[in-house]
Amino acid sequence: MKRRILDILKSQNQVISGERISDILGVSRVSVWKHIKGLGEMGYQIASTPKGYRLENDFDVLSPWAFPGREKSIHCFSEIGSTMDTAREMARKGCPHLTVVAAERQGKGRGRLDRAWVSEKGGLYFTLIIRPEIPPQLSFRFNFCASWALAQTLREDFDIPAMVKWPNDILVNDRKLVGMLSEMETRSDMVSFVNIGIGVNVNNDTAGIHPPAVSMQELTGRKSSRAELLSAFLDRFEKRTGQIGQGDDLEKIVSDWKRYSGTIGRRVRIVTVNETVEGEAADVDDTGALLLRLDDGNIRKIIYGDCFY
Ligand code: BTN
Repeated sequence: MKRRILDILKSQNQVISGERISDILGVSRVSVWKHIKGLGEMGYQIASTPKGYRLENDFDVLSPWAFPGREKSIHCFSEIGSTMDTAREMARKGCPHLTVVAAERQGKGRGRLDRAWVSEKGGLYFTLIIRPEIPPQLSFRFNFCASWALAQTLREDFDIPAMVKWPNDILVNDRKLVGMLSEMETRSDMVSFVNIGIGVNVNNDTAGIHPPAVSMQELTGRKSSRAELLSAFLDRFEKRTGQIGQGDDLEKIVSDWKRYSGTIGRRVRIVTVNETVEGEAADVDDTGALLLRLDDGNIRKIIYGDCFY
């Protein structure tokens, strides 16, 4: 019903009375009023005047209807603990490839290495569930494709000079714009699902976040549409990962990613679950591992960790 009311409001450039809407839909005016209230809670700005209702703004609403063609695979919540937890439950229950769980706010947003991820209103917080038919050792490709696709979307569609930081974050002028986290389950030595969790500072306030963060709004001086960003990212990710296995190779995925890399050549500190090491980020190999040149000249291959400039 909400969707139908929204379509009616969108088709009008002027105020339409509750009575007219209830006639068109064959429901009571109270029911129309309740659904309009619900749309307001979803973020649609609807003016309520003595003559009726008018849609004022649907620019930054995260709802499945903002994703034509993907409505059934995008699940939007106003507030949940972590999109990672909800996505894991949905993946275990068998939801399809390319399902998305998004939230306006997360009470228990998680970062890598057990850190919390501040998830205030205005940011884009989502987990993408994918089901590639590959062994677990190759799953890193999809994380690299995700950070590449998002960096390219930010650069080409939003004019933001986004750089990727190993393993999968996105920074602008060394301030964090995007964090990425992935979880995987396997069955019979094959991937059952990979969940890629992504947090983007879009229109949220990043003051006080550590390490220093930045939002798209701060960078561009205006609010951006989270639905537009998510939709453009999903299109790029789907297209790029659809080419995997059709003559495309591992080298290409990592080399595409490296074109946006701000990590290679820099002095970095790497924190893993077991240790902290420093050196120069010499390269990222075809398996996605960071090759760290230690101060004694030896190269250490780092498979997973957090990287600080
Ligand atoms: C990091 O940089 O440490 C990774 C941050 C990942 C944050 C995202 S927000 C959406 C998804 N849900 C979570 O709880 N975490 C990820």
